[in-house]
Amino acid sequence: MDSASLSCARLTGWTIGAVVLQILGLSLFVLGFFPVKPTLHGVSGSESYYKPKCDDVNVGQDSVANHRNLPPEELRSLYKELSGIPPVFDRLIVMVIDGLPAEFVLGRDDLSPTKEMMESMPYIQALLSSGNAIGFHAKAAPPTVTMPRLKAIVSGAIGGYLDVAFNFNTQAFHDDNLLAQFSYIGWKMIMLGDETWIKLFPDLFTRQDGVTSFFVKDTVDVDFNVSRHLKSELSADDWDLLILHYLGLDHVGHIGGRRCNLMMPKLKEMDEVIEKIHTSVILDDNNGSKQTLLMVVSDHGMTDNGNHGGSSYEETDSVALFIRLGGHVPKSAPLKFQTISQVDIVPTLALLFSVPIPKNNVGVVLLEILDFLTGVLYVSGLIRNVWYLFVIRKSYPLCNQYSNVYIFFLKQLNFIKNEGQCPNYKIENRNINRSKKK
Ligand SMILES: *[C@@H]1O[C@H](CO)[C@@H](O)[C@H](O)[C@H]1NC(C)=O
Ligand SMILES: *[C@@H]1O[C@H](CO)[C@@H](O)[C@H](O)[C@H]1NC(C)=O
Ligand SMILES: *[C@@H]1O[C@H](CO)[C@@H](O)[C@H](O)[C@H]1NC(C)=O
Repeated sequence: MDSASLSCARLTGWTIGAVVLQILGLSLFVLGFFPVKPTLHGVSGSESYYKPKCDDVNVGQDSVANHRNLPPEELRSLYKELSGIPPVFDRLIVMVIDGLPAEFVLGRDDLSPTKEMMESMPYIQALLSSGNAIGFHAKAAPPTVTMPRLKAIVSGAIGGYLDVAFNFNTQAFHDDNLLAQFSYIGWKMIMLGDETWIKLFPDLFTRQDGVTSFFVKDTVDVDFNVSRHLKSELSADDWDLLILHYLGLDHVGHIGGRRCNLMMPKLKEMDEVIEKIHTSVILDDNNGSKQTLLMVVSDHGMTDNGNHGGSSYEETDSVALFIRLGGHVPKSAPLKFQTISQVDIVPTLALLFSVPIPKNNVGVVLLEILDFLTGVLYVSGLIRNVWYLFVIRKSYPLCNQYSNVYIFFLKQLNFIKNEGQCPNYKIENRNINRSKKK
């Protein structure tokens, strides 16, 4: 009797202990796997062109409020003036090829893509080898599914894993991002393709034709519905940003994996779209007034079986191509394509088109793209990028923390190594010195 009640009490104790342990483990899992990501609210404005002061936590709040009320045209010229970077391009075409692994275009490690792939994308290969395009392996952060990747491509922030859960129930996106910045300066935007964009940015596009990604077996209509508007949109000149999101290649992957027999024809189709854009817009620009930049990106890659979502090399190896950097491209096109982070596209585009870098951006400016911005302009572009990383951390008002973060990022950008070429570095150095004294 006595021993029975004892073992009963012990059993209860063990049970309670086990339940508590389970709850602890579950919370640890949830907090670790779905960490709450702090984001800065609000939108970058003209204040981001000024250096934050040590004791000024609310950097330029007033200027934001004042300048946001400017008409778009005036805001546009204000940003141009403040940025000091001459506008190189007037309009932007972003072509998203869903699920295209960079390996198909740029190869892997030191190896070129297979002969079959090179022959399926002859135009893009010619652009790359002639130096009319620069290609990057753009590392996508997991989860490698479309919606969180699109958010990263426009905001420069890396979202939480929880975004996977919302992938099929996309809500409007309110964090600071490039498209919002473009709309403040009065850009007209057109969206053709995956309707995720329209769910993220309702009411933003002047013209749109959303394609549903629901029918994964459909590899023809999803792309035909985009390409059917190409002729008219490419000859229209009332837009500043044209987004094309082709879903077909991803669907081919879901049907038969990387080696599906539909893959090569699909690559060829994509290559033809790029050729069409290049010949009808970009080459035609040469006698016109508008200069257009074409970016070809993929949101994520795919495994051999055509799946994606995880963090393997095959899934995260997405591509970013900048096409038409004219004579600005370095003469010796690199044999080995660099690996960047997918979010690096964001500050680079922001600098190229003179809009403030979105507030939560963690990407860094791609030096190769801004290479043609000579001397001081180029350096000031970099410094501005560092400022943003400061601004992201403005919740830590301690000056010495600013300096540490600052030095860290300067090192990251190889600044200190190139000190000799960097006239502004000394100035920054002095400021760091001053801040340490405080
Ligand atoms: C393509 O467009 C047609 C006609 O507008 C529409 O019926 C069809 O559902 C669209 N296809 C997809 C995949 O959205
Ligand atoms: C460019 O040149 C072609 C013919 O060379 C001409 O038809 C076209 O109108 C020109 N475009 C502009 C914008 O001047
Ligand atoms: C940096 O600070 C030291 C003392 O803290 C001072 O002697 C030196 O002149 C300062 N350098 C600059 C460039 O301000």
